[in-house]
Amino acid sequence: MGKAWGGRFRQETDPRVEAFTESISFDRRLYDVDIRGSQAHARMLAHVGLISEDDCRQIVQSLDAIRTEIESGTFEYRTDLEDIHMHIERALIDRIGDVGRRLHTGRSRNDQISTDLRLYVRETIDEFDALLQDCQKAFLDRCEQDADVILPGYTHLQRAQPVAAAHYWLAYCEKLQRDRDRLQDCRSRVNVCPLGAAALAGTSLPIDREFTARELGFDSVAANSLDVSSDRDFLAEFVFALSLIAAHLSTWCEEWIIWFTTEFGFLKLPDAYTTGSSIMPQKRNPDVLELIRGKTARVMAAVPQLLMLIRNLPMAYNRDLQEDKPAVFDASDTIRSCLELAPAIIAGAELQRDRIAARLEDGFLDATALMEYLIRQGVPMRTGHETVGRLVAQCESRSCRLADLTLEELQAACDRIQPDVFDVLGTQKAMQALISFGSGGEQPVQERIHWWRDRLTAADAAADR
Ligand code: ARG
Repeated sequence: MGKAWGGRFRQETDPRVEAFTESISFDRRLYDVDIRGSQAHARMLAHVGLISEDDCRQIVQSLDAIRTEIESGTFEYRTDLEDIHMHIERALIDRIGDVGRRLHTGRSRNDQISTDLRLYVRETIDEFDALLQDCQKAFLDRCEQDADVILPGYTHLQRAQPVAAAHYWLAYCEKLQRDRDRLQDCRSRVNVCPLGAAALAGTSLPIDREFTARELGFDSVAANSLDVSSDRDFLAEFVFALSLIAAHLSTWCEEWIIWFTTEFGFLKLPDAYTTGSSIMPQKRNPDVLELIRGKTARVMAAVPQLLMLIRNLPMAYNRDLQEDKPAVFDASDTIRSCLELAPAIIAGAELQRDRIAARLEDGFLDATALMEYLIRQGVPMRTGHETVGRLVAQCESRSCRLADLTLEELQAACDRIQPDVFDVLGTQKAMQALISFGSGGEQPVQERIHWWRDRLTAADAAADR
């Protein structure tokens, strides 16, 4: 049962070393990309005449059969075979003997693992793009449902200015769009073919790297064998892109956890996505949101983990690089599980319209609108700011709202105020007064809803074609 690399060894490997060096326990999930990479490699070898067409056919078919065996759960994993590459190669040789022994021609596990990872990450990126779009659509659908709701906008978690509720939902669409764009950008550096770099130096055999790259859907071929066998930049970038997705999901969860408190009371969460307490019978906890927030830690931790892994490795491949996979797999599994749950929660939550409306006139959400009214009347901005500040203080001492002041009281503060001032006072009017592009006013938000609708349905139509 000797090892594939056993030729020059006189001693058996210590079993503890086998247990220490194995990666099959976590890289077995790469079986499918590994098989596809090997099939493409075999086709290339036949194409350039390094193996016969018949050998190629046997290799490709046997690899298909090995895939079936793995998927049926009957494939045997053995620590002494180290990793997924050795397992599949050994199974191939067991099936077709010397023909199988030709597969590893002009390649090494170093370019093989890089190829596997790139295919795996590329497919994960495409999967996440669709999942992110599902979240965007869930937010977009809320816009219609909540068209009549105004929410306080906050800075420093203090009431600031009113916005259409949909403005919040579209804010998340924007954040998630940047995440999608970032993944696409990362994809362009992922989708480069390492196969043929062999161990580190390339090969003296007449391989056709363009052929393999085309077979596997890569955009280009890596131009330096030393560079590509040591390169894990694409993984660091990928987990960074995942970290920002995690940050955005966590921000959303944090906000909704706050909104779900008795103190805020803005939001009802569906029973299916909350949990109870083992001791306090009245409790309903936003555990799912808390866990999405909490799981951010392990996604973000993958970034420093990978940077520390690669920062001082001499070129080219070093075994340290085997440690890249647990970090990448854990970060992507975590993000996947969050993205799969998010749309149902986004869609299922309900704004508590009455409770929101009952306190919407608190906190002087219209103060900035009044100041901007003064600016339109020709008052210098700083003067207007001071004037409104004094009016707010006056209201606070009388426990009233700006809209409760009489025209005379307002004019006493600033003689440029006219009766039309009441067109901007009160939360709803202050919201409607917002007209600039990108603002939270009714009109600009409506326009942006249409923009998103077009964009997300156009994407669907393109996907259907
Ligand atoms: N299991 C290894 C990894 O994940 C595959 C490459 C091994 N290469 C080697 N020269 N030992 O990185």
